[in-house]
Amino acid sequence: MVTNGAPRAKFPSTETFYGFNKPSRLEGDVFDCEVDGDIPTDIDGTFYRVQPDHRFPPMFSDDIHFNGDGSVSAVRIANGRVDFKHRYVHTDRYKVESAERKSLFGKYRNPFTDHPSVEAVIRTAANTNVFFWRGALLATKEDGPPFAMDPVSLETIGRYDFDGQVLSPTFTAHPKFDPVTGEMVCFGYEAGGNGNDGSCDIVVYTIDPNGKKTEEAWYEAPFCGMIHDCGLSENYLVLPMTPLKSSLDRMKEGGRHWAWDPKEDQLYGIVPRRGGKPEDIAWLRADNVAERNKTPNQTVRWVFDPKSKTDTRVTPFEIMNTVNGEFSRIDDRFVTKEYQHFWQALIDPSRPYDFEKCGSPAGGLFNCLGHFTWDKKVRDIYWAGPTATFQEPTFIPKDSGIEGDGYIIAFLNHLDVLRNDIVILDAQNLKDGPIATIRLPFKLRLGLHGNFVDHKDITAWQKRREEGGEVGPVRAATEPLPWQKQLVSQ
Ligand SMILES: [Fe+2]
Repeated sequence: MVTNGAPRAKFPSTETFYGFNKPSRLEGDVFDCEVDGDIPTDIDGTFYRVQPDHRFPPMFSDDIHFNGDGSVSAVRIANGRVDFKHRYVHTDRYKVESAERKSLFGKYRNPFTDHPSVEAVIRTAANTNVFFWRGALLATKEDGPPFAMDPVSLETIGRYDFDGQVLSPTFTAHPKFDPVTGEMVCFGYEAGGNGNDGSCDIVVYTIDPNGKKTEEAWYEAPFCGMIHDCGLSENYLVLPMTPLKSSLDRMKEGGRHWAWDPKEDQLYGIVPRRGGKPEDIAWLRADNVAERNKTPNQTVRWVFDPKSKTDTRVTPFEIMNTVNGEFSRIDDRFVTKEYQHFWQALIDPSRPYDFEKCGSPAGGLFNCLGHFTWDKKVRDIYWAGPTATFQEPTFIPKDSGIEGDGYIIAFLNHLDVLRNDIVILDAQNLKDGPIATIRLPFKLRLGLHGNFVDHKDITAWQKRREEGGEVGPVRAATEPLPWQKQLVSQ
């Protein structure tokens, strides 16, 4: 055993690493999980989700959850039974840190705090979302490129650059999939250099269902702000940019990547999906919401005129009377279309909470799941009780094709006994609680995003490979990214 003289693993006793937030650092399988209730037999597929899970104690004791290594769960459901699998994404970061048995990457998105030996290593932890693309899973975090994994074994294939077509240093954790055309529309912001240098460059790509890049358009933002998610219609992409600003000078001083600018507007960049040119981006401006940060937030619907001129001021079209909703999801078959239904994890502080047994709620008191419709006819809420919180709800569609007809699956955190369940609810009747509860015999960590993949899709790609050879993400990128090449040539 090579120890390289690294100190033995000891995590700080800060909130990020304490109680429910303790890293799980686990890779393993649970065959034929214990289940309460009956899992509907029309569910045949796998629910994938990813959590940040620090593999080694951080270089800086005030480290944050979002800096943890990506670790993916696969919940395979078939015939009313469940098999569970959990593996780290073996990123470039994971490999060099494993070899040294310690953290070599410093603060969240600040390469100036890294060990000098990893200057040319891609530092993304691939910890934010995991989704299915052409027979593989892509694990992503917005500060770096995607990493591909095998959807059955969860083995990491490696960094994926779409066969050399996507060379942006950054890649969103929230691409959108057009259910009509089968295209993936994706983007990278802070895309001008190594992804952590405050550049205002934005790139938007479209990849067709055969894996061919059909669009690549570059734009410039008025400042380097975070663009975490996006909205997609038939003809436009909306890029919401928050006044959370990056600064190269601050990073060089060892400070944080992001700082909120209370004097700056919230921006919405609108670009055409086809044939976009640099001058085609329109930035619409809305009020900064900093003052409202402390009050319960509500879900807001925006409607934009894509022909608006840059700097047009905009206000919300509609405000929904939800309480502190996060992790909003829709029936993804309705992306780009007019939709009614959405589901959220909710923080309802009016419900009882057992502080004595649970302490401060790890990651926020997401004690309810809610289902709402924009016509306001549906307001369906399930409360998890005084000792439990939810992670992101994900929609599993039934075959009917009717919007919202299906199930909701979500991780449930038992904060009192430090253990996770996975619950399945009727998407149209949350209030009656889980139809089935999958009991995990351990605690994981708080996850970010995930998706359900129908098993037919996985087997169809397996068949395609057997017949047609190497299609989809089957091997790691071989060429370094442009910024890595530049570093080496210096
Ligand atoms: Fe997100």
